Amino acid sequence: MLQPKLKSKVRCTDLDIGEVSKVVLDPLSHEISHIVVSMNGNGERQVAMGHVQAVTEDLVQLGAPSHDILALPPFKREDYVTTHEVEISHLEDNIHVTPGEVLVPLPDLEKNVKRRTFFMNFTHVIGFLIGLPIAFPILRFLMKPMYADFDNQWLNVGNVSQIKKEDVGVQFEYKKKVKEVYMPEYEVEKNVWVVRATPELLEKVYQGKDEEFRDAKGKVLWTNKKEIPYIAFSGKCPHLGCAYKWRNHKALGPVFLCPCHLSIYSAGGNVLDGPAPRGLDALPLRVSAGGEVEIIDMEFKAGTKAQVRIV
Ligand code: FES
Repeated sequence: MLQPKLKSKVRCTDLDIGEVSKVVLDPLSHEISHIVVSMNGNGERQVAMGHVQAVTEDLVQLGAPSHDILALPPFKREDYVTTHEVEISHLEDNIHVTPGEVLVPLPDLEKNVKRRTFFMNFTHVIGFLIGLPIAFPILRFLMKPMYADFDNQWLNVGNVSQIKKEDVGVQFEYKKKVKEVYMPEYEVEKNVWVVRATPELLEKVYQGKDEEFRDAKGKVLWTNKKEIPYIAFSGKCPHLGCAYKWRNHKALGPVFLCPCHLSIYSAGGNVLDGPAPRGLDALPLRVSAGGEVEIIDMEFKAGTKAQVRIV
């Protein structure tokens, strides 16, 4: 008997029911054990070769009525693999249908995917646990720079002799060495605004209380005393981080003015107008006997009401 061909018509004893869409091979005998019939829109059925009475070039004649074939369970493609996926030697000597449409049943062990996945995952977990003591010190070494503490060193930014008037913002420029993770050290140009405040302005800024600065663990790093007449503000606008200037405003007089979105701050750093969510960020400041001004360079998250340190 000829081998059933793909696309051949399949005829029952009463009517044509569809066409051959796949063939299933017995992997041991290399014989076609089943044909898969595409049932004219009613899904696919797997029909044993025992039902096949005759095969011609373009027709497979079955010895059963159509309702018997329709009653067979639907074909489950996931229980099979193509002969491209498994190696079967000398297959082409016996089978002459179009390659790629010849299926063989999936071994039972392969069907039990959940069990296999469990054992695979189990093996990965054991491997991970064995490797952890070796990997941990390496990971800790590599990640340490990313979680380094903030740099709290004091930086000299200039001398108070640069300030000629009280309650006026004076820009102090300085350079800072920066070391980021694994990059080589480099220098950035930064600035702070320093104000020599009158007692009235000091009272507005401190409202009778010293200002404390704390490290990440909550320990007090430094306290700006309310009677020290110098105040330093970070050079970044708390709205979105632009550089602001000391300017004369038509209505408000001398103010800190940020050109980006027109936030306006008083000499004491309070918001007078614009979208800024908080006042200017004061920095730890100390002044030596010779008038040298030192600050701890800190940066805070822009756009938030609360002050969150990021550098
Ligand atoms: S960044 Fe200063 S007002 Fe927007």
